[in-house]
Amino acid sequence: MRKPSSPTLFDSFLEKSANRLLGRRRERSLILLGVFIFFPFLLFLNMTGCSKADPRFELDELYLLKLEKYLAPLSPPQKANLEAVLIDLYGTPNEPTLPTSPSFDFLSLEDLKMAAGAVSSTEEGHSHGLYRQHCADCHGLSGDGKGPRALVIDPYPRDYRQGIFKFKSTLRDQKPTHDDLKRIVEFGIPGTAMPSFRLLPENEKDRLVDYVIYLSIRGETERQLAEYIIDELEEGELLLDKAKGKGSPEVLEAKEIIDEIAEEIALSWKEAADYPISVSPSPLKQFTGEEREAKRLEMVLAGQTLFRTETANCTKCHGVMAMGNGESQDYNDWEKAYFDILSPDSGKEYLDAGAFPPRKANPRNLRRGVFRGGYKPEDIYRRIHQGIAGTPMPSVIIKPENAPDSIQGLTEYDIWCLVEYVRNLPYEEESQGVRNGPLPPQIK
Ligand code: HEC
Ligand code: HEC
Repeated sequence: MRKPSSPTLFDSFLEKSANRLLGRRRERSLILLGVFIFFPFLLFLNMTGCSKADPRFELDELYLLKLEKYLAPLSPPQKANLEAVLIDLYGTPNEPTLPTSPSFDFLSLEDLKMAAGAVSSTEEGHSHGLYRQHCADCHGLSGDGKGPRALVIDPYPRDYRQGIFKFKSTLRDQKPTHDDLKRIVEFGIPGTAMPSFRLLPENEKDRLVDYVIYLSIRGETERQLAEYIIDELEEGELLLDKAKGKGSPEVLEAKEIIDEIAEEIALSWKEAADYPISVSPSPLKQFTGEEREAKRLEMVLAGQTLFRTETANCTKCHGVMAMGNGESQDYNDWEKAYFDILSPDSGKEYLDAGAFPPRKANPRNLRRGVFRGGYKPEDIYRRIHQGIAGTPMPSVIIKPENAPDSIQGLTEYDIWCLVEYVRNLPYEEESQGVRNGPLPPQIK
C-alpha cells in the first residue's frame, strides 16, 4: 500500500536551503543562481509528480467534533491511528481494498478499482476513475457531499457516510438495494441537481453503485469506530496498537472487534433486499374502462378526505392544498445532526468547522407532479407507506382492512386512495398556475 508522501517535508527542505543561501553573503549572484537552479528544479519535481501527495479520505471532522462536544475528544494520535485502521480495511481513494470476510462478497474489488482512482482509460477502452469523473464534483472524494460544486446546490448532494438513503424499495430503516441505487443513477432525481447517467454503459453504472456502497460502508465504519474508541477505550488508548506486537492478544482482540463492526455494516447492505416494503396490488387492477375511471375518481375523493384528516396528517407538512406549505418546519437528518431548527444560533461551532449552512427540509408541492422517487403508482405507494428516510416525511402505521376507526393507522386501501389523490393533484383546476412546464408523460 502506498503511503501519502508528505509535501511539507520537501517544503521545509526548500525553506532551509533558501535560508542557508540567503544567510551567507547576500550576493546577488547567489540569489540569481538560486532562482535559476531552484525554480526549474521545482518545476521538474512537479512534473514528475513528486510533490503531489496521493489523495486521502479525510476524517469526518464534524462528527468527531460532535463526539467531542457530547462525549470526549479523540487525541491526535488516536485520530491518526483511526485513519490507519481505516486504510487497512478500505484502502485509499486511488487503491481501494475490502476486508476478506464473506459479508463483503457482494462487492467486487475489481469493479471498485475501476470506479476509483484518477480518470483514465485502458488500451481496450475501459474507463477508470468513474467516480471522480462523474460524481465527486458534487458528492466529494470521500462521499461527504462536499464536492467543489456542492455549496450552491439545493438540496445539497448527499453525504453517503451516514448510510441513509431516501428513495428505495426497502423498509425505512434498511439500506437500499443495488437496484434501488442503480435506478437513481439511471434516472437521476427529478427536481434536484442529481443528474441521470442513463447513457453510461451498464457495467459502469453497476461499478458506480458499488462504489457509492463502498464509500457509505467506509463512512459508517469510521463513525462507529470513533464511538467505540470513546466509549470503550481508556483516555488516549489506541484502537489498534501495532507496537504491542502483531500476534499479541491485545492486537488480535482489537482486530476482531474492528472486523465485527465493519462486517455488521456490510451485512446490512448485503441483506437489504430481505426487507422489502410489501406493496399490495392496486385495487384499480380489478377494473377496466369506464368502471376503472369511476373507481379511480372514487378513490381520489376518498384520498382527498384522508389527506386532510388528522389520522393521515399529511396537511401538517404539505398544507390543505398540498402545495408544500403546511405549518411544520424541520431539517433533514443530515442537518439535524448538527443544527436545531428551534434555536437559530445552534451549531455555530460546526459552521466554523466547515459545515454547510443548514437548509430546511421542504415538504413537496404535490401539485407540480414531480416525484423524486419515481412516478409509478407503486413508487408513490412506497413513499407514503414508509415515508422518506432521512427526512421528516413519516411512515404510516398499517391496520387491517376491517379494523374499526378507533384503531390508529391507515389500511392498505387507504394508502392506495392517497396514491390516486396525489397522482391526480397536478390535473386539478387549482394546479394550473402551479405546474411549471409540461407534465412528465409517465404520470397518467
Ligand atoms: C450536479 C451534482 C451531482 C452529481 C454530479 C451527482 N449527484 Fe448524486 N445527488 C445529487 C444531489 C443534489 C442529491 C440529493 C437529492 C435529494 O436529496 O433529493 C444526490 C443524491 C444521490 C444519491 C442518494 C439517493 C437516495 O435515494 O437517497 C445517490 C445514491 C447518488 N446521488 C449517486 C450519485 C452517483 C453515483 C453519481 C455519479 C455517477 C452522482 N450521484 C452524481 C447531486 C449530484
Ligand atoms: C412531517 C412532515 C410530513 C408529513 C406529515 C408528510 N410529509 Fe410528505 N413529504 C415531506 C417532505 C419533507 C417531503 C420531501 C422529502 C424529500 O424528497 O427530501 C415529502 C415528500 C412527499 C412526496 C413526494 C415523494 C417523491 O417521490 O417525490 C409525497 C407523494 C408525499 N410527501 C406524500 C405525503 C402524504 C400522502 C402524507 C400523509 C400520509 C405525507 N406526505 C405526510 C414531509 C411530510
